[in-house]
Amino acid sequence: MNTVTERETAAAAGAAGGENALEIAGLQAWYGESHILHGVDLTVGRGEVVTLLGRNGAGRTTTLRAIMGLTGRRTGSIRIGGRETIQMPTYRIAHCGVGYCPEERGIFASLSCEENLLLPPHIGAKGAKLAEGMSLDEIYAMFPNLAERRHSQGTRLSGGEQQMLAVARILRTGANLLLLDEISEGLAPVIVQALARMILTLKARGYTVVMVEQNFRFAAPLADRFYVMEHGRIVEHFGTAELEAKMPVLHDLLGV
Ligand SMILES: Nc1ncnc2c1ncn2[C@@H]1O[C@H](COP(=O)(O)OP(=O)(O)OP(=O)(O)O)[C@@H](O)[C@H]1O
Ligand SMILES: [Mg+2]
Repeated sequence: MNTVTERETAAAAGAAGGENALEIAGLQAWYGESHILHGVDLTVGRGEVVTLLGRNGAGRTTTLRAIMGLTGRRTGSIRIGGRETIQMPTYRIAHCGVGYCPEERGIFASLSCEENLLLPPHIGAKGAKLAEGMSLDEIYAMFPNLAERRHSQGTRLSGGEQQMLAVARILRTGANLLLLDEISEGLAPVIVQALARMILTLKARGYTVVMVEQNFRFAAPLADRFYVMEHGRIVEHFGTAELEAKMPVLHDLLGV
């Protein structure tokens, strides 16, 4: 599938059979009195990698947090694997098979790499393809550097190792929809390349990925589709085939 129209048709067909991993419609969200999201519409098919782009403060992190039920009030619709979650508390949303990797990574400094990996419970949605979650052995096969560092304390891991660990940790839960916030941020190019290979491996294994990225060059070759946010709204939405044609618009919107 090359065009957004084809994908949208497929997404719409999938929606009828509950095939989309995520369908957001008219999402509004607040932090206290601050109205941050003003009607976000976003659909992600199963197995797709979708990137959410935007300038600082556009509302990308808030969108991921709203999906997880971690903002204040939310209105609109968020369907995960066909189930409406807008009224659910965070733990039930997680049980729909969603894993959230926040920008701050949340590695416990006093625990070893392996203890960090063992922390989360299994939350995979019943009947979901990846409900079992990855075993430690599978994770170590996919992230050999974490295997080497399994007994190292959280604080002693490099930034790149901590980032790998933060992603690996949610794979253990059985989540099949991964929400990743700026995973490439502040990391050396060689680590960013390793993260890109990791995303491609996850995609090949059937995971669905929503990535918030500032690093357009990292995201561009990985994503199937792109959404651009501004002031709490989606202002552009296109597929890989249109990327070239959209570059002038992206340059204006993001300065890339
Ligand atoms: N806890 C909060 N309380 C009130 N306002 C917030 C809170 N967190 C974020 N905001 C505001 O919401 C808006 C969107 O922020 P958000 O973190 O979603 O942006 P972003 O697109 O992820 O950008 P970046 O990560 O580059 O800052 C910003 O104006 C921000 O100041
Ligand atoms: Mg952010």
